[in-house]
Amino acid sequence: MTASQPIVLQADQLRKHYGVARGLFKPQATVRALDGVSFALPAGRTLAVVGESGCGKSTLARAVTLIEPPTDGRLLYDGRDVSGHTAAELKSLRRTVQMVFQNPYGSLNPRKTVGSILAEPLVINTPMGKAERRDRALQMMAKVGLRPDQIDRYPHMFSGGQRQRIAIARALMLNPRVVVADEPVSALDVSIQAQVLNLLMDLQEELELAYLFISHDLSVVRHIADAVMVMYLGRPVEHGPKDVVFSRPRHPYTRILMAATPRVNPELRGERVTPKGELPSPLNPPPGCHFHRRCPHATDRCSAEVPALRDVDGRLVACHYAEQMA
Ligand SMILES: Nc1ncnc2c1ncn2[C@@H]1O[C@H](COP(=O)(O)OP(=O)(O)O)[C@@H](O)[C@H]1O
Ligand code: SF4
Ligand SMILES: [Mg+2]
Repeated sequence: MTASQPIVLQADQLRKHYGVARGLFKPQATVRALDGVSFALPAGRTLAVVGESGCGKSTLARAVTLIEPPTDGRLLYDGRDVSGHTAAELKSLRRTVQMVFQNPYGSLNPRKTVGSILAEPLVINTPMGKAERRDRALQMMAKVGLRPDQIDRYPHMFSGGQRQRIAIARALMLNPRVVVADEPVSALDVSIQAQVLNLLMDLQEELELAYLFISHDLSVVRHIADAVMVMYLGRPVEHGPKDVVFSRPRHPYTRILMAATPRVNPELRGERVTPKGELPSPLNPPPGCHFHRRCPHATDRCSAEVPALRDVDGRLVACHYAEQMA
């Protein structure tokens, strides 16, 4: 694969702000769950989004799939701007990007058989008849490693790993170009995780799928990603090719996440493995660099001046001292 792959999903300064009530007579507060995220995802490639719980990963997933459209910013599917369009206008474009959720128990309707779960997107979006829909469901089951005799079974009759195979099959029924997977293996046993990751990688190769792959687990990301974006309080702090970011992380937050997963980069073994204190509330983020109260390298400049996201040594990084972090 080359850099000339077409860009199938592009986000420019995507924001998602939620208004939250603070009590009677008090004005609403704003949670900046997503606060200026940009990326370009080529066909057939995987961008992994990492960061601790609460940093905005699922908000990003819901925004790019238009499950909860962004508050601001531009979103392009296959080069076409989908920002500000109505659901009806987007009907055909929406098929381009599909989602797989973390929880394979909650995301499948327990009262429907596998056959009808997989046929459902075809009922809504295509003129196919019943027999053809069943054929397509059987074909997709074979692709994800399920047996044809399982088609009339209900979700509770499957293991967690098999249910995630069903969820992946459902996401692929309309031939999307992009799959957004929000922690797709986090709820599975470690032994099953590798099988589902291998399936995702095989499907990527066969169908030239692009993945926006969300995970808090860097050992999983190392396996599957081509590029990595590390997020902190709704913003990217480091973003670049996986090999560049993993071999020489230049943001203190990335370094801390990696030091906590020694298999990923043994050179960081001696560094601090957890950031100081709690993740601050996105309702009231610290001034300057949002990370400064937890950062082992913070100076006075860090509490006063917001670091810009800039190109350093082959990746984008938002730290005043990125050049010194190696
Ligand atoms: N509907 C909502 N209303 C208000 N705040 C929200 C809403 N959804 C998410 N948030 C807040 O946005 C932040 C990011 O959440 P989320 O995207 O779920 O993070 P992650 O998936 O990385 O754990 C959190 O502080 C969360 O509380
Ligand atoms: S800008 Fe300062 S506080 Fe922020 S990550 Fe860099 S050194 Fe740490
Ligand atoms: Mg989440």
